[in-house]
Amino acid sequence: ICVNCRVGETVCPHGAITITEKGVITDPAFCQGCGFCAAACPTHAAKLINFTDKQILDQVDVAFSGLKAGEPKIMALLCYWCSYCGADLAGANGLRAPVNYRSIRIRCSSSVNTALIVEMFRRGVDGILIGGCPQAACHHVNGNYLTDKRMSLLGNLMDQLGLDSSRLRFDYIGVPQSQKFID
Ligand code: FES
Repeated sequence: ICVNCRVGETVCPHGAITITEKGVITDPAFCQGCGFCAAACPTHAAKLINFTDKQILDQVDVAFSGLKAGEPKIMALLCYWCSYCGADLAGANGLRAPVNYRSIRIRCSSSVNTALIVEMFRRGVDGILIGGCPQAACHHVNGNYLTDKRMSLLGNLMDQLGLDSSRLRFDYIGVPQSQKFID
């Protein structure tokens, strides 16, 4: 289903994707699995192994099964390198987290596409936090900045559609920033 639009080749921060006359070639020696291409691909031809939208949505579907009825469901999608570790440290440091939040460890925050967010809302998630590495510290060059931009565009669209954009938030959360994560 690739239409050779070259978006994947353009956005890949590691130079792993090349479009040739024979089709798309992803060089496994260069690919670092950020998921940047998968989120940007307009036809969803690019997929991130083990982190597909379906696999994430399957986790979303069961994540809140023990939650009391009426509690808002807050889902945190946390980048593999920094934000997830910050959240993990919150637990190790004994910080109290709200009972109604769940988290899913993703690859770079740039792997989150807007269709996934919309589908999560459609499935009943009330609020979504996307955590990315601190500024200038994304492990995939500038994935966190692009996620910030992508989510603020989606927020604008949500407002235009009459949806409350405060239900969606991107933030830069580093490993030592457990308190920021909890806040
Ligand atoms: Fe953390 Fe890119 S690796 S936001």
